[in-house]
Amino acid sequence: MIAITGANGNLGKATIEFLLKKVKPENIIAVMRNPVAMPEGIQVRLADYEDLNALNAAFKGVERLLQISATSMGEAGIRQETNVVRAAIQQDVKHIVYTGSIRPSAVANFYATHQALATERAILSSGITYTFLRNSLYMEIMPLFIGNALEAGHWEYPAGNGKVSFVSRMDIAEALANVLTEAGHENKQYEISGSKAYTFADTAKLLNITYADVPNVYLEKGMAAEHLPGELITCMVSMVDGIKANEFAYVEKDLEYLLRRKPQSFEQYLKTL
Ligand SMILES: NC(=O)c1ccc[n+]([C@@H]2O[C@H](COP(=O)([O-])OP(=O)(O)OC[C@H]3O[C@@H](n4cnc5c(N)ncnc54)[C@H](OP(=O)(O)O)[C@@H]3O)[C@@H](O)[C@H]2O)c1
Repeated sequence: MIAITGANGNLGKATIEFLLKKVKPENIIAVMRNPVAMPEGIQVRLADYEDLNALNAAFKGVERLLQISATSMGEAGIRQETNVVRAAIQQDVKHIVYTGSIRPSAVANFYATHQALATERAILSSGITYTFLRNSLYMEIMPLFIGNALEAGHWEYPAGNGKVSFVSRMDIAEALANVLTEAGHENKQYEISGSKAYTFADTAKLLNITYADVPNVYLEKGMAAEHLPGELITCMVSMVDGIKANEFAYVEKDLEYLLRRKPQSFEQYLKTL
């Protein structure tokens, strides 16, 4: 049995679509905190990452677990992701595939990376067979960065000259389905990036708009004006500091290896915006 956490999220749903091309739905368990309809035959088991007992019940009989990183950050994120690992140990799960952040580091500016590192360490010390897919930023979050810049013809964002190797979330999902159903990925870690890294100025050029770097406070004020939660604002500010420090600039061939084809190009993706 293969179980997937965050199964109703974007990455979880897409991974299930690819998995269904390879395994019967009866062999898939979708773990989520609120019930959401899944394709026929897939077992839905309910568990919040905060609830160790529910996670234990959800992982009964599971051999392979896809642990998708939590959306909570800081202490809560670490606690929730550690709970998933604890339940996997208690249920004798044989293999954990974990999706975290590219080149995780305890001193990275982007602070979601710290919990990815903590979770990888918890998995490593569990002794369970693992595969880590360490993701760069998804292409699909570009609209979040761009806002109304396409209509305005001008884009202001505090990204400095940092480069990002944007990667397609659909490609990651396909790679995850491959890793979950093939041998040979045991105790491996893969750095998952697009084939090229771009500055925001490069991206603006491709979109035929102008770009100006601005101080972080523009982002903070803009998000606060939209009444977005403080935790999200702090996360985004740490993300742009990470971008400026080239924490998402790594370009690796691991995704191409897992897909056995070239990953989706960022330039093609931009044409769809
Ligand atoms: N690399 C990137 O650019 C990037 C961008 C965004 C996110 N991420 C990370 O990648 C992960 C997957 O991305 P995604 O696009 O699939 O995110 P998503 O669509 O937001 O999905 C997140 C999933 O996590 C579930 N979840 C959140 N808190 C939970 C809890 N306490 N207990 C159980 N389930 C919980 C959500 O359930 P509900 O539907 O019930 O909330 C949802 O199923 C995210 O969780 C985040 O860690 C990466």
